[in-house]
Amino acid sequence: MTFSQLRLEGVARSFGTANALSGLDLTIARGEFVALLGPSGCGKSTALNCLAGLLPLTGGSIWLDGARIDGQPPEQRGFGMVFQNYALFPHMSVRANVGFGLKMRKVGRAEARRRVDDALRLVQLSDHATKFPAQLSGGQQQRVAIARAVVLEPPVVLMDEPLSNLDAKLRLEMRMEIRRLHQTLGLTTVYVTHDQEEALSLADRLVVLREGTVQQIGTPEEVYAQPVNSYVASFMGYRNLLDLTVTATAGTSATVEGEGVRLTGTNRGSVTEGPAKVAIRPEDFVIGDGAANALEVTVEIVEYHGRELSVSARLASGVPVYFRTDKRLAPGDLAKISVPAERVLVFAP
Ligand SMILES: Nc1ncnc2c1ncn2[C@@H]1O[C@H](COP(=O)(O)OP(=O)(O)O)[C@@H](O)[C@H]1O
Ligand SMILES: [Mg+2]
Repeated sequence: MTFSQLRLEGVARSFGTANALSGLDLTIARGEFVALLGPSGCGKSTALNCLAGLLPLTGGSIWLDGARIDGQPPEQRGFGMVFQNYALFPHMSVRANVGFGLKMRKVGRAEARRRVDDALRLVQLSDHATKFPAQLSGGQQQRVAIARAVVLEPPVVLMDEPLSNLDAKLRLEMRMEIRRLHQTLGLTTVYVTHDQEEALSLADRLVVLREGTVQQIGTPEEVYAQPVNSYVASFMGYRNLLDLTVTATAGTSATVEGEGVRLTGTNRGSVTEGPAKVAIRPEDFVIGDGAANALEVTVEIVEYHGRELSVSARLASGVPVYFRTDKRLAPGDLAKISVPAERVLVFAP
């Protein structure tokens, strides 16, 4: 099926009086890879299940080009689905699991065999075709689930935290696999995750959700470098979120003070004088007072990360500050660290 866009217009879903998802507007181009990102409970699965047709909307509509599809049952939409728990048929071989949907659709034997072979090759499981799910590792089982979804050549693939049951190493491998599959097949994909690294590395665009409401939609670069509020910033690795006070603004620059420090930062959201949230990434600090904003901290905890150390320290006022460095530091050390003004983001509280 060809289409040019999948459109969600004000898609909402409530459970009783609780709004799991409120008014999601999103247009997904064919071939695009979109990630829905947010912490547990923010409405990601709700959005995906609404798209799949597993959950009726309580508001809004869903469109494939000019056709309204939110009234259609899941099988009529024909979207491919991959979930966290792979839900394979335990009594069927890998080949039979992957071919099941084709059989249901009465695809001829020869064609079905060819398509299953292609799908297994794609997920690098050709050598395991006759095995049963219990004989496979978690990563291999998830690859079967992915093959089962893509073998039907669905117009849209929906994935709900497909990697969260895998260990760290497998997660990285499968992430690349999913990226490679997307590059090869160009399938329109909506991918749900709470892992910002996964979302950043996989998706063409991210949708950051909070309590059922969109916070920001943008490319990985946009969301990473220009978060629109302190919530998105904290989700994007701005681990230092300081409550300070804006004492002056000039153009895009803002001066913030409090906790015994004074910093020049970048005004991200027309903040005026008064309380503000100041976001700084640990990796944007450098040792020494080379950059404009210098802070004196006492080192508390040092974690070894190979090339770098991850350091938890405190200002004299007691407020924690996190930074990364390749310098050797030890608990109890006094350190002077600094951060360029453009890496200090000042948000409304
Ligand atoms: N069937 C349901 N009945 C009642 N509340 C639900 C149901 N499904 C989800 N919710 C609530 O909706 C909110 C969003 O859930 P969900 O979409 O599963 O979040 P996520 O996938 O982001 O972790 C949560 O507060 C959850 O408790
Ligand atoms: Mg979920």
